[in-house]
Amino acid sequence: MEKIRFSAELDVFEDKSQLPQEIQQLMVQAIETRDNAYAPYSSFKVGAALLMENNEVVIGSNQENASYPSGLCAERTAIYYAGAKYPKMPIKAMAISAKSLNKEITAPVPPCGACRQAISEYEVNQEKGIPIYFMGEKGKVYLAKSIKELLPFIFDKFNL
Ligand code: THU
Repeated sequence: MEKIRFSAELDVFEDKSQLPQEIQQLMVQAIETRDNAYAPYSSFKVGAALLMENNEVVIGSNQENASYPSGLCAERTAIYYAGAKYPKMPIKAMAISAKSLNKEITAPVPPCGACRQAISEYEVNQEKGIPIYFMGEKGKVYLAKSIKELLPFIFDKFNL
């Protein structure tokens, strides 16, 4: 019997002020977007900002619904918006920030499993890693240089 092991690597920034200038600005857009999220049921607001190859920024926030499962996360709202607005355009970076109205979130909040799968579709297609910077409301920022760091052993079009 053989074993297969996966390992992951994240870069850790003490604070968003430590980020490269361009990414800091992207994170500020994620934060502004987060504060406009429609999250009346969870009070958990998430914002995502995508830096596109043409240097435009595409944003998304979580959109909840009285029928709970009909809501959508910020990351998928943003990446599907990017796919609709700029079909096939590579994504240079993604920034995510989450805030709860009930408690202060100081730990970085990663994209959920379904969002990881959605992000992987675009990363596989562009054949280049999408660096994902994610944080809570304040404090450390984690960087995954590719979705593969967060989602090893991806199911993608090559499995079909
Ligand atoms: N949420 C996101 O927007 N992104 C994630 O990766 C995790 C969860 C949203 C979904 C829901 O509106 C709220 O946060 C609570 O789960």
